[in-house]
Amino acid sequence: MASVAAWSFLLCNLLLVFVQVLGGRDFYKILGVSKSATTNQIKKAYRKLAKEMHPDKNQGDEEASERFQDLGAAYEVLSDADKRKIYDKHGEEGLKKGDVHGDPFSSFFGDFSFFGGGMKEQNQELPRGGDVVIDMEVTLEELYSGEFVEVVRYKPVAKPAKGTRKCNCRMEMVTQQLGPGRFQMMQQQVCDDCPNVKYVAEEKLLEIEIEPGMRNGQEYPFVAEGEPHIDGEPGDLRFQIKQVKHPKFERRGDDLYTNVTISLTDALVGFEMNIQHLDGHKVQLVRDKVTWPGARMRKSMEGMPNYENNNVRGSMFITFDVEFPKGSFNEEQRNGIQKILSQESKQTVYNGLQGY
Ligand SMILES: *[C@@H]1O[C@H](CO)[C@@H](O)[C@H](O)[C@H]1NC(C)=O
Repeated sequence: MASVAAWSFLLCNLLLVFVQVLGGRDFYKILGVSKSATTNQIKKAYRKLAKEMHPDKNQGDEEASERFQDLGAAYEVLSDADKRKIYDKHGEEGLKKGDVHGDPFSSFFGDFSFFGGGMKEQNQELPRGGDVVIDMEVTLEELYSGEFVEVVRYKPVAKPAKGTRKCNCRMEMVTQQLGPGRFQMMQQQVCDDCPNVKYVAEEKLLEIEIEPGMRNGQEYPFVAEGEPHIDGEPGDLRFQIKQVKHPKFERRGDDLYTNVTISLTDALVGFEMNIQHLDGHKVQLVRDKVTWPGARMRKSMEGMPNYENNNVRGSMFITFDVEFPKGSFNEEQRNGIQKILSQESKQTVYNGLQGY
């Protein structure tokens, strides 16, 4: 048995070496993900590395742009189910047969100005189409763990059409002779003739990354995906995060709030329970002291991830409500309870609204 295992282990290693030698670059290694990584994990890894390795951020480093290209190639192949299959079987060589060298950068980022938008230095005078802002409903679960959402947008695209249209219109001074020795200068609009265009709706797939910890109202921009402008540049398309109400948690900043109702017995003798968090993990609550209605427990690091730094998390605040038993007790039970609690009978009348 052991020797069979050893043999297959050796064989596997040999195969691995084989693939790496024959197949060129190890895309999994470049992205730092395992062979079984999901597409989402690949996208996340790529996005993170692309930010770090972007040549703009590594100026003067000769190899930076090469590494960035490797990264782009790795992403392009592994994020595409078909190409990934071929790569897994035949390595990079196997992919060379078909043309796989598109522009991985634009395919993922679209026109999204990811690195602070170096492309924004256009002519100020160009007219610009309107910005389009679309609300995007996002659950608290998605904001907790992060998610990729694909949105199909029907974008009006200019296509050549018959005829011409007036364009580049401007005001010019023209001099008109009214009679001998009499001239009049006046302003007049002059235009050029440009080829005509019509707008056709084209389908475009946009990929939006809901990053962990994004906040309600935060915007996710796609540069130049907004309204087109016939004589100028298009506006931007912006998705605005709208956090939908969650049945169990309320979010304030990076903190989460929830309510738990416990029985009077649990309130008095203590209890142990689990709360299922937004990603499914369990948050354990243990209490061996008396819990009064309105008591609040704080679990640090169990809130939302901070958007700027995902390693930091807010807290979870749990407020307890106590459910009292209904009905009544008999004489014996009452005496028993009195004995156990040995709490003096006490009634205080007070104005609970004091201070309001
Ligand atoms: C918890 O209960 C309080 C008081 O009833 C309420 O204002 C609050 O919205 C509740 N929180 C959640 C997360 O349900």
